[in-house]
Amino acid sequence: MAEFSLNDILRNNVKKLIPYSSARSEFEGDAQIFLDANENSLGSVLNRNFHRYPDPLQKQLKQKLSTIKNVPAENIFVGNGSDEAIDLLIRAFCNPGVDSILIFPPTYGMYEVSAEINDVAINKILLTNNYQLDVDAIKKGIDRNTKIIFVCSPNNPTGNLLDTKSIEWLLENFNGIVVVDEAYVDFAGTESWIKKLDQYSNLVVLQTLSKAWGLAGLRIGFAYASKEIIHVFNKIKPPYNISEATQQLALQALQNEAQAKEKTNVLIQQKERLLEDLKEFDFIKAIHPSDANFILVKVDSAKDLYQYLLSKTIVVRNRSSQPLCENSLRITVGTPEENDALLTALKYYDQ
Ligand SMILES: Cc1ncc(COP(=O)(O)O)c(C=O)c1O
Repeated sequence: MAEFSLNDILRNNVKKLIPYSSARSEFEGDAQIFLDANENSLGSVLNRNFHRYPDPLQKQLKQKLSTIKNVPAENIFVGNGSDEAIDLLIRAFCNPGVDSILIFPPTYGMYEVSAEINDVAINKILLTNNYQLDVDAIKKGIDRNTKIIFVCSPNNPTGNLLDTKSIEWLLENFNGIVVVDEAYVDFAGTESWIKKLDQYSNLVVLQTLSKAWGLAGLRIGFAYASKEIIHVFNKIKPPYNISEATQQLALQALQNEAQAKEKTNVLIQQKERLLEDLKEFDFIKAIHPSDANFILVKVDSAKDLYQYLLSKTIVVRNRSSQPLCENSLRITVGTPEENDALLTALKYYDQ
């Protein structure tokens, strides 16, 4: 295959686009009086300094993240959740009605939904029975309209990391963008694919504050990629995609890395405990190993067990409609007390 060239796969309308230029990015110098952006000069109705538009490029936040992750700030995009990055990638590279993405079910649902919203076709190649990439099938599944491959590792809902060599094969042989979604990487104890950004110009790594950092409600996700790809994100994103409040809180959160690590360790310990304790129930037919903060289990009847747990006020996710997930429930690791409650409820389950 020919070399990856960003220019070759970028949509023409995006190449030609003149992005929105925000008021504050149009001047240089020491301004004191800001009469340029139709904000409320009298201030905000809250007792907080929110009357100005936020920094469109979230420079302070990126600077802090750059130090934590050891990645230059110019290689970082900040999104309204990593879901925003997924949508922007599809919009930047896939022509509606013409191009396609490639995904490997069972996997995270938003790749498919975002493609559908953008009228972009979805090619699917199932994972193997042990939830790994089927490289031989993938070789046949890529065509000239395939623009993005989404790899989720650790994968949701199966919980496992995908084989490094297979991902490397994709990066080396596929001429489009390879996204490695690492939403759960902090639970896996492996190196991030961020380390390989210098090596692969077609690599985009997604991470989020929603999982290990405990900030799903804040809506902050990151894409790490070459500065050329980050430039594309910046060109097409809504100008003020991250609010001032969110930028401030995210920055505050990033000062607290030790606490995120502590929470991650507790969740990993609790996961190990659940993986062990779930073995005692014969209606659980398979417990899949997990590199994430959830466990996929195969049971006698997912529908019945789901309803039973709900009657005990415990809600889990029934993933049975996904391929290779027949009668499977995905259980998020809870607090120690929540996990006690789950195990107690399971003890009293009468099939
Ligand atoms: C694999 C994966 N990627 C991305 C996301 C979305 O993350 P965010 O909250 O940053 O939009 C999720 C959420 O569950 C996920 O499981």
